[in-house]
Amino acid sequence: MAEVPKPTPKENEVLIKVYATTVNRTDCGFRSAEYFISRFFSGLFKPKNQILGNEFAGVIEAIGKDVTNFKVGDKVFGYNDVTFGANAEFMIMPANGAMSTIPENLTFEEAACITEGGHYALCDIRAAKVKAGQNVMIYGATGAIGSAAVQLAKYFGASVTAICNTKNIELVKSLGADVVIDYTSENYTKAGQIYDLVFDAVGKSSFGKCKPILSKNGIYISTELGKNGENVFLALSTPVFGGKKVLFPLPTISRKDVEFLKELFIDGQFKPVIDRSYRLDEIVEATKYVETGQKTGNVVIVVVDKF
Ligand SMILES: NC(=O)c1ccc[n+]([C@@H]2O[C@H](COP(=O)([O-])OP(=O)(O)OC[C@H]3O[C@@H](n4cnc5c(N)ncnc54)[C@H](OP(=O)(O)O)[C@@H]3O)[C@@H](O)[C@H]2O)c1
Repeated sequence: MAEVPKPTPKENEVLIKVYATTVNRTDCGFRSAEYFISRFFSGLFKPKNQILGNEFAGVIEAIGKDVTNFKVGDKVFGYNDVTFGANAEFMIMPANGAMSTIPENLTFEEAACITEGGHYALCDIRAAKVKAGQNVMIYGATGAIGSAAVQLAKYFGASVTAICNTKNIELVKSLGADVVIDYTSENYTKAGQIYDLVFDAVGKSSFGKCKPILSKNGIYISTELGKNGENVFLALSTPVFGGKKVLFPLPTISRKDVEFLKELFIDGQFKPVIDRSYRLDEIVEATKYVETGQKTGNVVIVVVDKF
């Protein structure tokens, strides 16, 4: 924790007073540079952005002179994995960034954790062109990405089989899963079902393991690179031969995506799962917890607790 100067927005930027933010796997991946290649984006010897935090919910405190789409006092939420900076009392966002206003019935805490897992899941489910009538397996349905993926696959009309731990079976059912498999007592590859998409939201399976449960033109997507980066190579090679294939979509997020997730929330079709909340001065504890790889949904950091 450190006192730093309050940032000043440039002409196309807004200054946000942060009310709530999160610690997520993107923050941890960016800071730890677990994959060496990520250092070319995040900083070769140390993180180039010293203040982490990519998800935020707060109130616009000041705007640059060219900003017309937001005004001081607007309640906003969104995502920034370019300059980060949300784990702080104030942050800067480009006015045309992945950000939208907070609807009436959404709290700052909920708004803060809509976009990270939400946009990864959305990118992958869109890449697989999930549609009504398809059978989709979400492996690791209790993470930030997995819990969003269950809800989004249901929204796009799929029948969803979710894989999770015993303690989260009811939670995953409440997210809309049609079938739940407890990975502590059942082998998900032997459940007798065939899937149009296996989406491994926690990177603990492999294409090889899942191939027998994929339909003729079934798709396998993982959020991790896989053993020796195999998912990247398989995503380049398997589509060439036709049949079962691996996709490795590069995640993107725009204002439209944030607004899409917001509309789903308003319609009651998407709700972020919150595991725990910490105060900003407990952020080290929060980070240690997220790094266990055992959180359920999202970990929120409450920056201003008197809304
Ligand atoms: N490098 C990056 O920048 C980056 C960014 C975002 C995400 N990711 C990757 O994407 C993945 C998902 O991220 P996330 O934030 O959604 O994860 P997360 O929230 O940390 O996921 C944790 C959840 O996964 C479940 N889980 C753990 N092992 C499992 C297993 N073997 N089978 C089924 N469920 C299991 C855990 O439940 P239990 O209680 O059962 O353990 C827990 O609920 C992670 O692998 C992460 O590294 C990477």
